[in-house]
Amino acid sequence: MDEVSAEVVSRRMDGTAAILTISNPPVNALSHAVRDGLMIELRDLRDDTSVDAVILTCAGRTFCAGADISEFDKPTRQPDLSTLIAELASFAKPTLAALHGTTLGGGLELALACRFRVAHRTTRLGFPEVKLGLIPGAGGTVRLPRLIDPGAALEMITTGRLINADEAEFMGLVDAVTDDGVVSAAIEFTHEALAEGKRSKSTRDSGRFQEAGIDWDWLEQEKISVQQKARGLLAPVKAAETLIAGLHLPFEEALANERSTFELLKEGEQSRAQRYLFFAEKEAAKVSTLPASTLPRSIETVGVIGAGTMGRGIAMALANGGISVLLHDADRDALERGLAGIRDVYASSVKRGSLNEDVAKQRVALITSSPNVEGLAQCDLLIEAAFEDKAVKRQIFETLNAVAKSGAIFATNTSYLDPSELGLLSGRPADMIGLHFFSPAHVMKLLEVVRTPSTAPDVVATALSLARTIGKIPVVVGICHGFVGNRMLAARTAELEQLLLEGATPQGVDRAFTEFGWPMGPFQMADLAGLDISWRNRRSLGKKADIADTLCERGQFGQKAGMGYYDYRAGPREPQPNAELVELTARLASEKGVDRRRIETQEICERTLFPMVNEGLRILDEGIVARESDIDVVWANGYGFPRGKGGPMFWARTLGYKKVAEALQEWHSRTGREVFRPSSALSALK
Ligand code: 3HC
Repeated sequence: MDEVSAEVVSRRMDGTAAILTISNPPVNALSHAVRDGLMIELRDLRDDTSVDAVILTCAGRTFCAGADISEFDKPTRQPDLSTLIAELASFAKPTLAALHGTTLGGGLELALACRFRVAHRTTRLGFPEVKLGLIPGAGGTVRLPRLIDPGAALEMITTGRLINADEAEFMGLVDAVTDDGVVSAAIEFTHEALAEGKRSKSTRDSGRFQEAGIDWDWLEQEKISVQQKARGLLAPVKAAETLIAGLHLPFEEALANERSTFELLKEGEQSRAQRYLFFAEKEAAKVSTLPASTLPRSIETVGVIGAGTMGRGIAMALANGGISVLLHDADRDALERGLAGIRDVYASSVKRGSLNEDVAKQRVALITSSPNVEGLAQCDLLIEAAFEDKAVKRQIFETLNAVAKSGAIFATNTSYLDPSELGLLSGRPADMIGLHFFSPAHVMKLLEVVRTPSTAPDVVATALSLARTIGKIPVVVGICHGFVGNRMLAARTAELEQLLLEGATPQGVDRAFTEFGWPMGPFQMADLAGLDISWRNRRSLGKKADIADTLCERGQFGQKAGMGYYDYRAGPREPQPNAELVELTARLASEKGVDRRRIETQEICERTLFPMVNEGLRILDEGIVARESDIDVVWANGYGFPRGKGGPMFWARTLGYKKVAEALQEWHSRTGREVFRPSSALSALK
């Protein structure tokens, strides 16, 4: 063993094979120090006649997770990744990448520049650049479709989907998969290759690209489909275009084209916003007020109380993370319906091909049920997901207090009620926390973790650790009506009725939202969620909304009733204008003396989104969240705020808070409505 450097890149010998190990915790990102270290080693090894082969490996939990994203806002330092990869790809002696953990982005590009790839069976590989508003920038769009089926390459690069090692082997992306130590397997593979004189072609001139020809029509169709699904995001579209263009171009030109597109995207607003969100999501999970020594409690079985939509979703979210669930509902029929609903969701995922049948079976098996509360005694965490009614919840927590074991955590999925009051009712305030999931709970990434003044630190730590286990993005929030998301949603919603009265239509407002990049507009969303939920909430607060209340009084609760802001009688996928609503808004406008006119998209956005930003700053000012970026994490992951705009606060900062404040001031002077009054926090930022 010949240790040359104890730096981020070290070298040792195994016979005539040099093993280069990158060690840059936590994820071996390809920082300048790593690139520099690798370049020095490669230049040294190129002409070393005592070395027959080079094996590239990484220390710690993963192979490289890609370029160092934190360097993207600084000038690029040489050697850049493309130069390094060109050096590696031009090696005449065999080169091999030994992969484990997650081999992503620039890390996979490094591996593609090697002649061979050996992966541990648990490895996951992919190009997640599109999620950062980017495309691969160091050969990914050029080498991958030359190595594997170009259609499969297009799918991987435009979606950012990770594949596992078996799939990678099947595609021809890796040469061998091992269950044992990947470095030993790589050494063995290399020595065999040397003995057999095996010289794989470089990805530049290998693969099905050469052999089978390309179905250009199919690729063009795929490109169109990517464009249709992109919702204004540039990166997936550019990824498809660059990959296809790269197949038409000579290799070096294709690399240059990819590089310049990557650089353009990197400087663009969308990628800046998406990179900001990447780091904001990591930050949100850090709670500076938790003592560093705080250990989470152990969670093996979770009781979910209530088998309705939220309860089922939460049960599936937990089972998807490998946690045993005991679903409880005192109503046996509701419990049966809940379990059947869960089985249906998994069965349709299997049918769609998005879930393996065995995995679906394992998840279903993790969810057991009990109509009796006594069964909940063994649970480490109890999540109440019952009807949004204080009396109902009070009774549940009183019962739980009687049956739950000591040390069990009590959580409520309430959207509006105060978890500290429920904590007092439960008799165990220190064990009480809010875990606010978003519907559908097995899909949506956001988890608002509502900390009460009495919640014990280890209960908060447990919630954060659980969120990680089940793949949720937690944001710790304080107590206020609607917490962060729904409180800001109320500000967004405040002007919707008024817009309809003044002449806007649900279709026009929804179009303004989808053009902005939202997956759906507020009226489509209200119809999908059901108008009765907010109706009930309004009534409990003694509030009124003339149009929505009338729809509810007529039983027009949205999609499930066949009518709401839209008419769904021709089918849920074919919403038509609701003629009764047209008549209703015109009548109400005339009764109230409101002049009707055409309302432009910009006005719709200002009157709905600026109040939301204003409320966000109040929330920050009141200390409900620790940082402004937490609000963006809530909106990007729980409410579909377009990621390419970074979240409401990032978007407002990009526009300029001054502009937001001036527009709100103008609307406030014109209408006198409270929702437009600039908050003191916003005024201070001007
Ligand atoms: N650059 C810089 N920092 C990174 C990073 C990267 N590529 N990937 C992760 N990190 C940091 C995180 O910010 C976090 O920092 P913190 O501890 O200070 O908060 C730390 O590494 C650990 O990350 P996670 O908490 O996310 O660890 P996990 O184990 O949960 O996940 C992961 C690991 C799957 C690698 C995940 O971090 C991830 O998906 N990273 C991003 C990967 C990516 O997008 N790669 C493409 C980069 S762009 C590129 O390569 C361009 C090229 O084509 C030219």
